[in-house]
Amino acid sequence: MTTLPRVAIPAQAPVDAAAAAGLAAAAGLAAATGEEGSEVGEVLVSAADLQRRVAELGKQISRAYYRTRPPQPLLLVGVLKGAVFFLSDLMRHIDIPVEVDFMAVASYGSATDSSGVVRILKDLDAAIEGRDVLIVEDIVDSGLTLQYLMRNLGSRNPRTLEVCALLVKPARRKVGRSRGTLAFGEYPRFDQPPRYVGFEIEDRFVVGYGLDYAERYRNLPFVASLEKE
Ligand code: IMP
Ligand code: MG
Repeated sequence: MTTLPRVAIPAQAPVDAAAAAGLAAAAGLAAATGEEGSEVGEVLVSAADLQRRVAELGKQISRAYYRTRPPQPLLLVGVLKGAVFFLSDLMRHIDIPVEVDFMAVASYGSATDSSGVVRILKDLDAAIEGRDVLIVEDIVDSGLTLQYLMRNLGSRNPRTLEVCALLVKPARRKVGRSRGTLAFGEYPRFDQPPRYVGFEIEDRFVVGYGLDYAERYRNLPFVASLEKE
């Protein structure tokens, strides 16, 4: 009878973390640009800046929700597929009880423009009535997708409904421009900008860290502009 090892043994010797990160970035770029020229342009948010900001957001969210009464786990609702990468990093920086569920939506429109007409491809697994719900989005562009989600989830009577978006493009926003500040959890107002925002970026189409162009480039560890001829 063989004895199984009690811990996994790494197949290779551990490598220096910084060197590994550099290699990963280079490999990502090579993989992204290798086939069809240089679609991946300027790096707008570096891998290090992403990780630092995601840690800050995790702390901020933990502080905001740790006193909810009666106590209940925070529910993160990730919007597939783009938010998965951000959400999984963010969740590891949240140090209060937290659960996760996912929705998949398709927005009719061109590859780079959403129309605001949204179709649910996958709904939540569980009811959210009375729950503290935090929608986690990769990017808010026109804000139309988010507005639809807020209305849809808001109608299910969660206790609170807030939004955490990694990136927002203020110049493109068609909805969510309202200036007034709401008290925490005072929702249903669907024209509010997200309460938690990673970075505001200029009006360029971006890829990486979950964001795709025709399903490509989600694996890049940084956010870069898409350069197209
Ligand atoms: P909105 O409805 O215009 O706010 O667009 C929302 C969705 O469009 C996001 O969840 C993304 O999936 C996609 N999207 C918007 N801008 C970008 C971008 O610059 N890069 C990649 N995807 C984007
Ligand atoms: Mg997309």
